[in-house]
Order: sequence, then C-alpha cells, then structure tokens
Amino acid sequence: MGDIARDESSFYSNAEGYWRDVPPTVEGMLGGYGSISSIDINGSKAFLHKFLSEAEGKTGSGCALDCGAGIGRISKRLLLPLFRTVDLVDVTQEFLDKAKSYLGEDAKRVGNFFCSGLQDFVPESGRYDVIWIQWVIGHLTDDHLVEFLRRCQNALRPGGLVIIKDNVSYEGVVPDEVDSSVCRDLEILHGLASRAGLRVVHEEQQMNFPKEIFQVHTIALR
Ligand SMILES: C[S@@+](CC[C@H](N)C(=O)[O-])C[C@H]1O[C@@H](n2cnc3c(N)ncnc32)[C@H](O)[C@@H]1O
Repeated sequence: MGDIARDESSFYSNAEGYWRDVPPTVEGMLGGYGSISSIDINGSKAFLHKFLSEAEGKTGSGCALDCGAGIGRISKRLLLPLFRTVDLVDVTQEFLDKAKSYLGEDAKRVGNFFCSGLQDFVPESGRYDVIWIQWVIGHLTDDHLVEFLRRCQNALRPGGLVIIKDNVSYEGVVPDEVDSSVCRDLEILHGLASRAGLRVVHEEQQMNFPKEIFQVHTIALR
C-alpha cells in the first residue's frame, strides 16, 4: 500500500475521526452523492437476485451481514427486504444508534448491531448466507483486508457469498488523505481476494453513476 498506510494506527484513527464528524444521513454515507443511492440499490438487487433465485447452489435467505453498514442504508433497502435477519457492523457508534430509528419497524429483524472495526471483527462461524461489504474496504490495510475476508469465508453457510461493492481505480493504489482510505485497482483487489482463499464467482460494473466518480464494481466471492 502507499505511504498513507505505513503508520497503521493513524490510518485507522484518522478514518474514525473523519467518520465521527459526518452527519448520520444517506447524504453523509455517500459523501454528498445521496442522489445515487437508488441507482446503487437497484443495481445491487439485480446482482443479488441472480444468486437467490438460482435453483442449484442457491444462496439462502436466512441471515446477512452488512459490513461498514453506517446508518443501515443498504440494510434498509437491500438486505432486510431479502433476508430474515440482518446483522450490522460499523466502527462508528453514532451511525449504529441512528440505524435503530432509520430502519423503522424492520429494526426488529436486526440480530446484532456490532460496533467494531472490520480489522478486529470476527463474524460468527457458519452464520451468514451473504456478507455484504460496500464502500469500506479502502479503510483496511491489505493484510487486514485479507485476514478479514478469510474470517468472512469461515462465517458463510453452505451456498453463501461474500460480496464486495466498491470504488476501483484505473491503476494502482490511490490514497485519500481526507477520509484516510485507499482505492485499489481491480487486479490488486483480485490478488487480495485470492490471498484470502476466495474465488470470484461473478463480477459486474455498476452502470449509470456520475462520470466524475471512481468506477464501482460488485464482486461475488466464495
Ligand atoms: C462510505 S460509508 C458507507 C456506508 C454504507 N456501506 C453505505 O454504502 O451506505 C463508510 C462506512 O464505513 C465505516 N468505517 C470506516 N472505517 C471502518 C472500519 N475500519 N471498520 C468498520 N467500519 C468502518 C464508517 O463509519 C462508515 O459508516
């Protein structure tokens, strides 16, 4: 990774400080691009449906984990409508507090609100049909991402999937000193997933996003 991650503890504490100052709203979760939320969710729904409806090797609809969940934007509109139970994990307690009201009645079907950095989080073995990881991997160092993905694989039920949806750079690692994150290219991401022992099952680029932002790819792994 670039220089930004050399001092690991400030890489994490700067990110935590950044997110503590962000308002607990959809606009805040999407860095001012709240207007793309519906396009994003609809793209994710179409992606996920391919696996939930395939008869053979079908992914179950029992329990999902929303990683870097924030206020639960994805849980509310993608995961809770499709799964019986959803767990949320995020490093920012204020976002999880907000999620309890933002999710409305459906908050009753949230199994756990875990406040933890993904670098420290150990998902329960064999619990999840889908582990959704969106717009947060740039906050993990390479080694922590690989270790987290390994723990995710161990947390899957049979037929389960780890799904990463995130920005990808055209080439190499692009640091962002404002929110203390990095954006990796696809080749690097594939290499990290493979180091974690995961194989790419399906991959798509999210279409119809504004031209000025990074490309966004959705990658299903198991
Ligand atoms: C860009 S927001 C995305 C939120 C949500 N995934 C969405 O798409 O609406 C990034 C989220 O990652 C969380 N975050 C940042 N660093 C994290 C870490 N190391 N572990 C877990 N969550 C983290 C932030 O608190 C914030 O909620």
